[in-house]
Amino acid sequence: KITASNGKKLQKKKEKIRMCGIIGIASNKFVSTNIINSLKKLEYRGYDSAGLATLDNNIIKEKKCSGRVDQLEKILFKSPASGNLGIGHVRWATHGIPNEVNAHPHSSEIVSVVHNGIIENSNELKIQLEKKGKKFKSQTDTEVITILLSDELKNKEPLDAVYDTLKKLKGSFALGIIFKNFNNIIIGARRGSPLAVGYSKNENYLGSDSYALKSMTNKISYLDDGDICVLTKDSVDFYDAKKNKVNKKVLILSDDKNVANKGDYKNFMSKEIFEQPITARNCINEYIDKSRDEINFYNFPIQPKSINKVVLIGCGTAYHSCLVAKYWFEEFTTLNVEADIASEFRYRNLKFNKDNLYLFVSQSGETADTSAALDLCKKNGVKTCSIVNVVESSIARNSDWVLPIHAGPEIGVASTKAFIGQMLLLYMLCLKIAALRNDIDSQDYQKKIKNLKKLPEILEECLRSEDKIQLVARDFLDSKGSMFLGRGCSFPIALEGALKLKELSYLHAEGYPAGEMKHGPLALIENGLPVIVISPNDKYFHKTISNMQEVIARGGKILLITDSNKNVISENVRFTINLPYIEKSLSPFFSTIPLQLLAYHVALLKKCDIDKPRNLAKSVTVE
Ligand code: F6R
Repeated sequence: KITASNGKKLQKKKEKIRMCGIIGIASNKFVSTNIINSLKKLEYRGYDSAGLATLDNNIIKEKKCSGRVDQLEKILFKSPASGNLGIGHVRWATHGIPNEVNAHPHSSEIVSVVHNGIIENSNELKIQLEKKGKKFKSQTDTEVITILLSDELKNKEPLDAVYDTLKKLKGSFALGIIFKNFNNIIIGARRGSPLAVGYSKNENYLGSDSYALKSMTNKISYLDDGDICVLTKDSVDFYDAKKNKVNKKVLILSDDKNVANKGDYKNFMSKEIFEQPITARNCINEYIDKSRDEINFYNFPIQPKSINKVVLIGCGTAYHSCLVAKYWFEEFTTLNVEADIASEFRYRNLKFNKDNLYLFVSQSGETADTSAALDLCKKNGVKTCSIVNVVESSIARNSDWVLPIHAGPEIGVASTKAFIGQMLLLYMLCLKIAALRNDIDSQDYQKKIKNLKKLPEILEECLRSEDKIQLVARDFLDSKGSMFLGRGCSFPIALEGALKLKELSYLHAEGYPAGEMKHGPLALIENGLPVIVISPNDKYFHKTISNMQEVIARGGKILLITDSNKNVISENVRFTINLPYIEKSLSPFFSTIPLQLLAYHVALLKKCDIDKPRNLAKSVTVE
């Protein structure tokens, strides 16, 4: 603990860490409705509190609340915030209470600030400011910016005041700021955390990502690190870290139809689960030349024959796709391969090698740990490739080579169709590298591509397991926990099944390599414990089934997921989900589907918030 000059105890740990969403709009009409609409889109970045500030006749109107944007909308309904200029924010806190006071914007008499990121020296600055008699209303680091900037504005123009304030800040952040006495400008600043600008007629925008801006414009520019922008309704000026005026490339965003539309589905997650055959079809159409049964990847950053090792890096579900790919690379190529969790990779004492291919997997392309791991690779001068869903993302922009999965926007916080897309791209990449290195014989290569083309229709068949899964789901309601077991490629699928169940239904679940059970976890098995065994028709089949028998002997209630018709299955298996078989190496795609459906139906029975599970956010932009 640090003691402030006034004797108040400040807890160093209580720094607010956020990965929030920012929007700013300068217009010739009232902006609060569009700010609310954009904030709703940004809720994937955080949804524990929300707020906005507009400027009308030199008066800052601030509205804030704990909870979701719907709540903020209700507040505005009763007490509207007029004004043609405004900023908004959704917050995700890892420390401290997500209450109204801590919600953004943080305003003084003359300035209002929204912030994404962390001010690392906020405690020191706070102590200095308190010594000078400044009073803080919130426990956030952001308020330090508001107070510093208000002081700078006493004798400076806004742009100079912002530059001089930023000089005092340490950390990584993105800011949106409005000024009482300058009623036509919004200033945005980027250091570390991404920030974009959007252009339209009589209206310009600031956003923490392009997604928030998409419904208003398809023309955007990204700020680079250290940049500041000044927006009015008719103009946008950019300045670099040295205050030189700079020009920015205007990018035209791709058009995503039906982005935020659930259609007839109860929620986005079920829509996204059932979209997976389409996701696979789009991705296959994008990369496979069907007439020649050939995979089209161009511009490899390294000659495939000279690759020494493939290093796969991601977080959460994306990491699980890396683990599956590790098995594929080992099976199809002569390459060494490693898979690493980005938050571990970035801090390890690694020996970088120019002949290694570093592959980053991320749905959002904004995950802080994955992004930092990518930066580390770049600093060490090695070649990087990213597999992303969001092509405009930071990770995509910073990689030497980008392979989009073409899954379309994934809105449900739990990743489903992106996982299938990630595995699909990794599978194709692995096959292509194997072919270019002559590691795989050409007939086998062609056969695998032919089978891959059947993937969308087989995924459709797998989705028909839903009825049975609905019955199985009831078993989980009264259980203490559950275990997911698999070997080989099915081990990461077991991890993924357990992760989906945990995050959606808040039930404890463990994913384990089936062969590890005897080394401790078998002690957890007791009468009635649900155990999901993933045992496709591969070289591990008999071994996994033996492990399953050991679980049955101790009272475990088995759900067996298999594409095998070998008749060795015990009658003590409670449920069996029989999946179609076309090719050993494709089983991870198929066994994923019943596991996603299982997590979904358990959560539905438990009445959990399926699209927005508690404590989580769609894009994890802090470490
Ligand atoms: C789980 C889930 C997360 C993400 C992880 C990485 O359902 O969605 O585990 O996979 O946060 O996110 P991206 O892929 O955006 O880097």
